[in-house]
Amino acid sequence: MALPNINPTTTKAWKKLESHFEAIKNHQVKSFFEDDSNRAKDLTIKWEDFYVDYSKNRITGETVKLLLELADEVGLKTAMSQYFGGEVINATEGREVLHTALRNPKTAQVLVDGKDVMPEIYEVKDQIKTFSKKVINGEIKGYTGKSITDVVNIGIGGSDLGPAMVVEALTYYKNQLQTHFVSNVDGDHVNEVIKLLDPETTLFVIVSKTFTTQETLSNANTIKAWFLESANEEAVSKHFVAVSTNIENVKAFGIDENNIFPMWNWVGGRFSLWSAVGLSISLAVGFDNFDKLLLGAHKMDEHFKNESFDKNIPVISAMLSVWYNNFFKVETEAVIPYSQYLNQFATYLQQGIMESNGKSVDRNGDKIEYQTGTIIWGEPGTNAQHAFFQLIHQGTKLIPAEFIGFANSLHGNQDHQDKLMSNFFAQTEALLNGKSKEAVIAEFKAHGVSEEIRKQLTPFKVFEGNKPTTTILIDKLSPESLGKLIAMYEHKIFVQGIVWNIYSYDQFGVELGKQLASSILNEINDDSIKTVHDASTANLLSYYKDIAQQ
Ligand code: F6P
Repeated sequence: MALPNINPTTTKAWKKLESHFEAIKNHQVKSFFEDDSNRAKDLTIKWEDFYVDYSKNRITGETVKLLLELADEVGLKTAMSQYFGGEVINATEGREVLHTALRNPKTAQVLVDGKDVMPEIYEVKDQIKTFSKKVINGEIKGYTGKSITDVVNIGIGGSDLGPAMVVEALTYYKNQLQTHFVSNVDGDHVNEVIKLLDPETTLFVIVSKTFTTQETLSNANTIKAWFLESANEEAVSKHFVAVSTNIENVKAFGIDENNIFPMWNWVGGRFSLWSAVGLSISLAVGFDNFDKLLLGAHKMDEHFKNESFDKNIPVISAMLSVWYNNFFKVETEAVIPYSQYLNQFATYLQQGIMESNGKSVDRNGDKIEYQTGTIIWGEPGTNAQHAFFQLIHQGTKLIPAEFIGFANSLHGNQDHQDKLMSNFFAQTEALLNGKSKEAVIAEFKAHGVSEEIRKQLTPFKVFEGNKPTTTILIDKLSPESLGKLIAMYEHKIFVQGIVWNIYSYDQFGVELGKQLASSILNEINDDSIKTVHDASTANLLSYYKDIAQQ
């Protein structure tokens, strides 16, 4: 059955939201708090080790009610059962979207073309488990008999960002293996990583769902050539493994069949870290931790599937984003984790969110007249405070922000933790309340500042406030809580795609540039090939050829 196909702007809820927006758009959230002593409690979801406070948003209880009516009207419930039930909801590519099956318990049953995929999922999980265990405990040796010390993940996009983000996020849980990631076709990337490696003790994990990706194959070939400078062909099977759906191409690259970790077409690249694409995670932190990551994601799946929408974290988070995107017409959203471990979290989310929902054609193939995918960006706090927070506090743009924090540190230094968390709380409070003219003047007076200077500087020191934030406070950063957090965003992406009536799981938008790059590459390599370009590109190419190939 096809996904529901409803233009959200034609729903009753949308119309109601439009007039509701007009009624409350200028209201101060501060005054909502003054008027309703239960607001903070009512607009908070406590689930397992997550405490999600969305009361500092520019909403009332009525907003939430209408947003959830919108979710109902666009058929979210039906779509959710199609998503989890393995229907072909990635209709433009003719595929199921079943990353959720990867974190199911063994006893679950998920049918694809009438066949239960759970047994294969568990076979591959066992393969990951056995292999990572043997690498970590030194049973698997390199070609000169030494244990493996370094692991290099070679992949890009979904075959890089998820594992790289998670490995960094779980650094605290890491074992002795050094993990590296090579993604960019810019040779600097691979060259700098190679400098750190010893071919005798390095394991290379080539991750490419299609095994046709230019960047990954170039990096893999460069690394293999470097490896063969010290080792012979037979040694390749001891040092190269691959994760792919394209078994033929992997074998043609020279990888031993026993060293292939399969994946499936029903797992989208940007949602694939739960599959063998996460092999480098399992190698870095051990299979048990990898499994806990999956368990956390599964718990979030169950929460999303079963919880009523008003207490459903991904649904609320997605609908708030729809509220800002489509009614306040904001262009961007920030994600600010107060954890250095989550340094790559926003980068990771950029692929998930923007590759999925950056679409301008609806499920009928018609041009869309409303806004879809938001731009997502962010950096860890407190560093972000010393970089772009100025604009969030006092700039002209409205930027809803999700603040993610962990109540308990892993390092155990309470002084650092309290300082970090006081900033975490202070920022959302400052964004909410701002600082009035009166408060600025009073502060000047208290410091004995002259009236002249006071008059001059007051406008610059005022903070309007009323900047929306959501606080996601989690007990502790662990493989399980990280799994929950990532899955939360995956489901948020899904909900938004359903509301916007788009297909979230294809990514045709990345194809055009790839095609052109390959024809330009041919042209660079062969002077006899002459392609028609616009004047700008033609000039750039000719300039490049002149100066780069001397
Ligand atoms: O950027 C486009 C894309 O297809 C992503 O969706 C995917 O994650 C990435 O390229 C890498 O693809 P592959 O795993 O097939 O090498």
